Amino acid sequence: MRSERLTVVANEPIGPYQLVRLRRSGLDPGTPGQFFMLEAPGRVLPRPFSLCLAAQGELGFLVDPIGPGTRAIAALEPRDVIRVTGPLGNGFDLSVARPLLVGGGIGVAPFPYLSERLGRPPALLGFRTAHHAEAAALVPNAEVVLDPTLVTDALPDDPGDVLACGPEPMLDAVALRVPGAQLACEAPMACGYGACYGCVVPRDGSFVRLCIEGPVLLAGAA
Ligand code: FES
Repeated sequence: MRSERLTVVANEPIGPYQLVRLRRSGLDPGTPGQFFMLEAPGRVLPRPFSLCLAAQGELGFLVDPIGPGTRAIAALEPRDVIRVTGPLGNGFDLSVARPLLVGGGIGVAPFPYLSERLGRPPALLGFRTAHHAEAAALVPNAEVVLDPTLVTDALPDDPGDVLACGPEPMLDAVALRVPGAQLACEAPMACGYGACYGCVVPRDGSFVRLCIEGPVLLAGAA
């Protein structure tokens, strides 16, 4: 894990989201599904983001501007500087034979990088509206379903190795259909490296810190 101040290269809207691209400097992009803490200027608490794009020399993050912290990051402009720490946590296990990426909403965020690393496997993505679904253009070979259709409605009978990211109800539904699926989970994170216990989630009848054990967990053990 390293922490550096990175310069914003570009910031563009993708549907209701913002794709914030930073000059990578010395930071390693890590494994897809790992996360970085982004600390916007003037904000006290950093926010966790999985890496969306790892273009040469850049780190790209897809931001859903839903609160003060995420809005501050979504409002960054080229040449602004932001502190970035990572990569953190455990990402997806890439040793899968028949990957299928399954995501909902802003859960699409880690898939462009994941898709690139896995050789562009099929993806099944669900969104609330066609406006939100514009983000699917970032993921090769994606089939899109819109609300009220759920991604679990569209899962094939034999989905193969599912790697999923999305809201908790979607991940719960995927876990029921596909035991052994890899689930990129979310929890409030204040530190990102095990110090604050803000990200504790139940697992195996006990509790774990998602930033240390996760954020990618195996369905069936969560
Ligand atoms: Fe602080 Fe996990 S985010 S312990």
